[in-house]
Amino acid sequence: MTLIDELSATVGEGFAAAGLDVQFGRVKPADRPDLAQFQCNGALAAAKAAKQNPRQIAEKIVEALRNKPEFSELTIAGPGFINIKLTDDYLSERVEKLADSKNFGGWATPDPEKIVIDYGGPNVAKPLHVGHLRSAIIGESLKRIFRFVGETVIGDIHLGDWGLQMGQLITELEIRQPDLPYFEEGAAGPFPTQSPIKLSDLEEMYPAASAACKADPARAELARHATKALQEGRPGYRALWRHFVDLSIAAMKHDYDDLGVEFDLWKGEAAVDPLIPELTEDLTKRGVIEKSDGAQIIRVAREDDNKTVPPIIFINSKGAVGYHATDVATIVDRKREINPDRILYVVDARQQLHFEQVFRAVDKAGYFEEVRLEHLWFGTMNGKDGKPFKTREGGTLKLRNFLDMVTERAKQRLTDSGFAEGYGADETLEIARKVGMSALKFADLSNTRTSDYIFDIDRFMAFEGKTGPYLLYASVRVRSLLAKAEAAGAGAPGPIIISEPEERDLALLLLAFAETIRETHTRRMPHILCDHAFGLAQSFSKFYAACRIVDEADSAKRASRLSLVKATGGQLDIALSLLGIDVPERM
Ligand code: ARG
Repeated sequence: MTLIDELSATVGEGFAAAGLDVQFGRVKPADRPDLAQFQCNGALAAAKAAKQNPRQIAEKIVEALRNKPEFSELTIAGPGFINIKLTDDYLSERVEKLADSKNFGGWATPDPEKIVIDYGGPNVAKPLHVGHLRSAIIGESLKRIFRFVGETVIGDIHLGDWGLQMGQLITELEIRQPDLPYFEEGAAGPFPTQSPIKLSDLEEMYPAASAACKADPARAELARHATKALQEGRPGYRALWRHFVDLSIAAMKHDYDDLGVEFDLWKGEAAVDPLIPELTEDLTKRGVIEKSDGAQIIRVAREDDNKTVPPIIFINSKGAVGYHATDVATIVDRKREINPDRILYVVDARQQLHFEQVFRAVDKAGYFEEVRLEHLWFGTMNGKDGKPFKTREGGTLKLRNFLDMVTERAKQRLTDSGFAEGYGADETLEIARKVGMSALKFADLSNTRTSDYIFDIDRFMAFEGKTGPYLLYASVRVRSLLAKAEAAGAGAPGPIIISEPEERDLALLLLAFAETIRETHTRRMPHILCDHAFGLAQSFSKFYAACRIVDEADSAKRASRLSLVKATGGQLDIALSLLGIDVPERM
């Protein structure tokens, strides 16, 4: 139970004693932390319902709760708000339980589900670029948060490995190297197991191929032909496709590895292509698919729509299978292979209509309930000009170069601030990588998922303020403090006795963790967890400045404070790991 739930239940008893609904007992953190810790506004609503005076009701509730051991102060403010303060004994006991718990006061969902998270979504042959960052960072964090609360989660990268771009690449290679065995008419293989081109060739070929197809209709027609032949299973093209995919995956694994992002499944669009004929037949038979101008479509508009939701084109008039159909088939495939309760898509805001159409279509088809499909969209990372982040020359920046730039900045920062003194080159680089990554990830996640934000490396990298490096520093400081205590023979952490205001504030924050996790999970919003982690680090800092710890003379106080330090460190480290942030050994 979260602290808020527990307090609400107790205050609810007060309402019940006054013959009122327990629901009115809902407690929340105080709007004015200078006056109280929590407040309950239920007397106002109860008064309205019972047509009574709210202040009188509040007085009755306060009277009924007078002897509860958890409250040190219950006062009535304004028309009937109940202000609440907790006793130090109650806080101490609650925090002690937290310090002993495995998840440092986290929260577990009462009804865990099996969930697929679809995130990453890179396309074969296109190197990862900064546009892929947010899906990776947010998706990874949500995956970890969902696992932490007890859900079974399968992360699927859902590669873009099918469709026109593959035909464009095949055509491009055929023009460049027509004598390769893959292009021989009627060749059935086997084909060489070694790829005829390198990754760098592939990355160079992709923009060349798509530009050529844009410029020349005949070339585009060739690419369409090749795509069709590939989809129909022409062996030479299939073999080439495999090479392209393998080269790309190896490069992507490297990049995602550096980002600390890990997928359980590396499935792609191609994997569900074999399902399309069977689904087309089923959907046609049941009247879900209609024919329109030679295409096969599914209408998804609804009477109460306040915007136009166009039909999805399942198969176009040229017989090609597009993005919508692939996503429908992927849902069917996941249902068959994994049977999840829910599927989450961490894909940017521009695809909102796409997913709305797909979700409606599968619901209409009876394949998957719309309410169990969620598009968790996100805003754009912009440059200082307010437009999507680009290189100085206006090009898209490869993720690899971007991450190198961030690490370089972090190294500079560490050197300038003297943090790197006395560390060897390897360790300095390792710390710089972690500092850089923490700056990037925390900045991204601490912005509300659905908002755009401006990339400002200097601000993100600061060691003061609401930044990743500040949190890393806090975590490292806790660790070194505990090591120092041990080295000084300060004794073991012991029973918690709260008496100072800074201890009280820290205790309240530690106890808010469960509510934080629940909110983060319910709203699928990592920034809530970021706010908590930052608040905790700040509160720790104040506690550290105000209270003696290792050199506290009173051994009971010292043991209690060491427990607080340990609990803070444990909770902070959990929060950071849920955000996908790695902490260096020292810095
Ligand atoms: N590859 C797609 C793109 O680049 C993103 C895939 C997102 N996931 C999905 N199931 N549609 O736009």
